[in-house]
Amino acid sequence: MNKSLVDLLYPEKGQQKNIFFSGKGGVGKTSIACVTAVHTAQKGFKTLLLTTDPAAHIGNVLGENVGDEITKINNIENLFGVKIDPKKTAQEYKNKILKEAQNKFDTNTIKAMQEELDSPCTEEMASFQKFINYASLNEFDVIVVDTAPTGHTLRLLELPMDWSKQIQLKTGIQTEISAEDKKEKEKFDAVIEMMKDSAKTTFSFVMYPERTPIIEAHRASQELLSLGIETQLVIANLIIPQEQAQTPFFKNRRNMQVKYLAEINTMFPEALVVESPMLAQEIKGLELLKEMGQLLFE
Ligand SMILES: Nc1ncnc2c1ncn2[C@@H]1O[C@H](COP(=O)(O)OP(=O)(O)O)[C@@H](O)[C@H]1O
Ligand SMILES: [Mg+2]
Repeated sequence: MNKSLVDLLYPEKGQQKNIFFSGKGGVGKTSIACVTAVHTAQKGFKTLLLTTDPAAHIGNVLGENVGDEITKINNIENLFGVKIDPKKTAQEYKNKILKEAQNKFDTNTIKAMQEELDSPCTEEMASFQKFINYASLNEFDVIVVDTAPTGHTLRLLELPMDWSKQIQLKTGIQTEISAEDKKEKEKFDAVIEMMKDSAKTTFSFVMYPERTPIIEAHRASQELLSLGIETQLVIANLIIPQEQAQTPFFKNRRNMQVKYLAEINTMFPEALVVESPMLAQEIKGLELLKEMGQLLFE
């Protein structure tokens, strides 16, 4: 039973809606996240657009400077943006954990912890921690997240202790879980619960209709499903409009896309599939974002 866009994009009264976009690099996550956030803001929902795009992309797309503090976006009501720099955030996170460890453990242990913390997982974990903090503020009606965490990261968060404790255990340290840790863990659990609640969270994959992005998205969505998180929305992006398929080259490409669109519908039977046309230009600027929102969501 596929839901309607109203159910997928707008929060229930007094609730918060989280909309996550996932998918391969370059498929249009940042662009579609901006379109979506502009759209929900226009609908009157206080919206936070959260990006981990290292290229400060939302700033470019919205034509606004968005930094690592929540910033009100000019020229549109209800829209706020914030950028998470995954490298910087991960560094801060590592420093914090290692600083605490410094007074407690010997150099070998700290070295082992350092190695564990050098995994690519740290960036995702640290970025997600930021989302958790913003989501726990209960200040926004809608939070749109440009790049969702993977099932792998979410699985680590499901374990009965937070990640720094997991690292301590892995490096052979007997750890005690303090009252403060417990509180922190409860916050994580509440957010994970919210992500599993399909009324509060819309998990969405962006893809273009070609084999590799479909297969990758499907695999990632299965991993999420094993955690109880359903993919409810698929944006099939960069579709060549029918009226543009005039030359053999574009006819051929469009036919290929139509074939893969059918495949997307079969592979994501529970999701609403929204087709998003390839535009003649980059997706940039408030006016174009508004237009695109109309096209996709109205
Ligand atoms: N439907 C579209 N039509 C035209 N250009 C698009 C479309 N979707 C995305 N783009 C362009 O493709 C590029 C990559 O999109 P982006 O949103 O940055 O992808 P991602 O965040 O997934 O890496 C950008 O230059 C963007 O403007
Ligand atoms: Mg991006």
